Amino acid sequence: TPRIFSGIQPSGGLTLGNYLGALKRFAALQGSGAETIYCLVDLHAITVWQDPETLRRNIREAAAAFMAAGVDPRQSVLFNQSQVSAHAEMAWLFNTVARVGWMYRMTQFKDKAGKNAENVSLGLLAYPALMAADILTYQATAVPVGEDQKQHLELTRDIAAKFNHDYGVEQFPIAEPLIEGVATRVMSLRDGSRKMSKSDPSDASRINLTDSADAIAQKIRKARTDADPLPGSIEGLKDRPEARNLVNIYAALADQAPDQVLSRFEGQGFGTFKPALAELAVASLEPITQRMNDYMADPAEIDRILGQGAVRADEIATPILESTKDIMGLLRTR
Ligand code: TYM
Repeated sequence: TPRIFSGIQPSGGLTLGNYLGALKRFAALQGSGAETIYCLVDLHAITVWQDPETLRRNIREAAAAFMAAGVDPRQSVLFNQSQVSAHAEMAWLFNTVARVGWMYRMTQFKDKAGKNAENVSLGLLAYPALMAADILTYQATAVPVGEDQKQHLELTRDIAAKFNHDYGVEQFPIAEPLIEGVATRVMSLRDGSRKMSKSDPSDASRINLTDSADAIAQKIRKARTDADPLPGSIEGLKDRPEARNLVNIYAALADQAPDQVLSRFEGQGFGTFKPALAELAVASLEPITQRMNDYMADPAEIDRILGQGAVRADEIATPILESTKDIMGLLRTR
């Protein structure tokens, strides 16, 4: 059976982008006949400073968001990365396979490091090798992600291919990215050229999964748009990124094609479209926020679920880690 793996950083609140680009699809993939393994990548989160108390809370909140979005811990393996030591060990093995130049080429590294590349953590540079370890320690064959992770997944494929080539084995599959649907790149509500991100300094640029109904409606009302009416098909929005983004969000929330949405709103302006979108967004997100709050009321139960998930993840990961060490000639005598 195909094995699906994906992860989300528990570094601050999750956004509508994380929901539509990742969580909603994670839940949908559970019925597909594939094995699904979902990970809160807390070791990735600490590549930039995290306040320990806040991080602990964010890990639980991200777990609550997964479950509230429909990831069922009985159907999927749901766990946090740092509880399964194979990830960190495999990452070290891959640090010896990957080349430094591959890491410097990552656009996410360049964005995050900025002009300060000498002074960021070594972990921030090696981050993609840990991501490759996440995926390959399960020999996963498919990885659902948003558009922004495409380059990291290509690097995962490069690491798998170089390992297989260097050691003359077929140890690691060349995992397929699953970048599908209309919401693989949800954009900022303030600037149609930037992606919606939890790290954007403007809270008005994003919808958080913890936002109240009022806040969601207000952010959509204030979202940047233009003054033209909506066209009959998505092609007509080529040069209107803000308008296109709102239509794509509507389509993703409603499980419709963008053209289907536009056939309903053709000729209308944002005075009509925005209230309709706000209503749909609130109706879709309010139950999720509510369920998140319910889970968060019982952190011990979240901890128990993550602990059980880690045991199941460990059972899959450890044999693959051990066989990888064998292949590399690392002597094991216990
Ligand atoms: P992260 O935590 O930044 O994002 C989690 C997932 O959400 C998607 N996403 C978006 N999708 C659409 N529109 C947006 N505006 C948007 N913002 C975020 C991301 O593409 C991602 O799928 N390196 C990864 C985490 C990771 C991982 C892995 C993923 C670690 N190991 C192994 C897959 C497999 C990251 O930082 O995602």
